[in-house]
Amino acid sequence: MKVDVLLGLQWGDEGKGKVVDVLTPRYDVVARFQGGPNAGHTLEFEGQKYVLRSIPSGIFQGDKVNIIGNGVVLDPALFKAEAEALEASGHPLKERLHISKKAHLIMPTHRVLDAAYEAAKGDAKVGTTGKGIGPTYTDKISRNGIRVGDILGDFDTIYAKAKARHEDILKSMNFEYDITEIEKEWMAGIEYLRQFPLVDSEHEINALLKADKSVLCEGAQGTMLDIDFGSYPFVTSSNTVCAGACSGLGVAPNKIGNVYGIMKAYCTRVGSGPFPTELFDETGDKLCTLGHEFGSVTGRKRRCGWIDLVALKYSIMINGVTHLIMMKSDVLDTFETIKACVAYRINGVETENFPYSIEGEVEPIYAELPGWQCDMTKMTSEDEFPEEFNNYISFLEEELEVPIKIVSVGPDRDQTIERYTE
Ligand code: GDP
Ligand code: IMO
Ligand code: MG
Repeated sequence: MKVDVLLGLQWGDEGKGKVVDVLTPRYDVVARFQGGPNAGHTLEFEGQKYVLRSIPSGIFQGDKVNIIGNGVVLDPALFKAEAEALEASGHPLKERLHISKKAHLIMPTHRVLDAAYEAAKGDAKVGTTGKGIGPTYTDKISRNGIRVGDILGDFDTIYAKAKARHEDILKSMNFEYDITEIEKEWMAGIEYLRQFPLVDSEHEINALLKADKSVLCEGAQGTMLDIDFGSYPFVTSSNTVCAGACSGLGVAPNKIGNVYGIMKAYCTRVGSGPFPTELFDETGDKLCTLGHEFGSVTGRKRRCGWIDLVALKYSIMINGVTHLIMMKSDVLDTFETIKACVAYRINGVETENFPYSIEGEVEPIYAELPGWQCDMTKMTSEDEFPEEFNNYISFLEEELEVPIKIVSVGPDRDQTIERYTE
């Protein structure tokens, strides 16, 4: 069998967690392939709301195996808190959450380094989640990182060496910090990790595929935050794109099947960096209020704007998206007019191609469509869609040249309309 990949096409928070949960019953295994606790994936069902950070969103449907792949960076303290909360709420995971020995560990000093580097950047700061993501991936690439598998060896020595290196850097930056408490929690997290199956997930996944089992890979962040293709340097430190599933799980490119690209019916971004369609007016405030656009984990206000088809086409190209999934269309229910950016004007020149940089003056050129102005949140089938909404969908499909398979009309698992199955 092939591996399907589900990932965000914008700047994250598209609604990946919700859709992974909805699709999980169709798969044998769900796996995360990159990112770490910078993610906040929200799911709602049966009146309960859960926010997942490092644990895949396939954990709630039956007793499916979930895998944290080698491309993920894991903070044992945050992982322990997340897993214990899930267990306490009646979702046991110890047997069925497998963790790659090759996943890198986020150390307490990585978090401090994240804060120190951000402080040093001043106004040019990335606006990171402060979870130590960048410094951990930096250590991985510079071959100084420590991995989950290291806890099975002489871990104290390995940890002390890595910590000393970080202390030297922080000293040279004159950065004050105290990790006494978080280090205790972190060490407790290391002990807790030992209770989970620590695996060679590349072998596991390939054996599953050979046995005709199906795997869904869950992306974190979004394509516009990808380290190579996002709005660099205002990006995260991993490959959030489809290729990241290959390197982050050990899946060969020819094993990739469907690629589900998720987008909001509009657009948001949290943290610093360019955002061509950002709205600074009442419409932006309305999107923020109606969409409850505040970070799932950090509570930070998300910047809001219209959907950007120039950026989306680029994301679709990079990921080889086969199916689109449109989230939060209900947020536009009361809008009289809806806009979609179809081109940029840069230095007086119009382009539909996503440029090298979107910093500076990028004027979005909009198409305007009539809104549907009715409540879609209780709809259960495509037959109920108002004409204007069907027109919006047709317009997007024509522009993006990929079919919209699923439309989400509310945060609950049940508020999901599948337009076609294959
Ligand atoms: P993720 O990081 O991609 O999983 O997305 P987040 O969980 O960070 O943000 C998506 C937010 O939108 C969450 O609060 C979801 O509960 C909510 N959500 C998801 N789908 C819909 C939808 O169709 N309509 C509305 N109104 N909210 C949604
Ligand atoms: P999910 O998976 C939205 C953003 C941060 C910052 C930049 C770098 O929930 O969609 P980092 O801590 O990764 O070094 O921060 O990336 N960012 C996200 N924005 N959703 C996320 O995850 C994000 N993870 C990181 O705000 O701008
Ligand atoms: Mg999120």
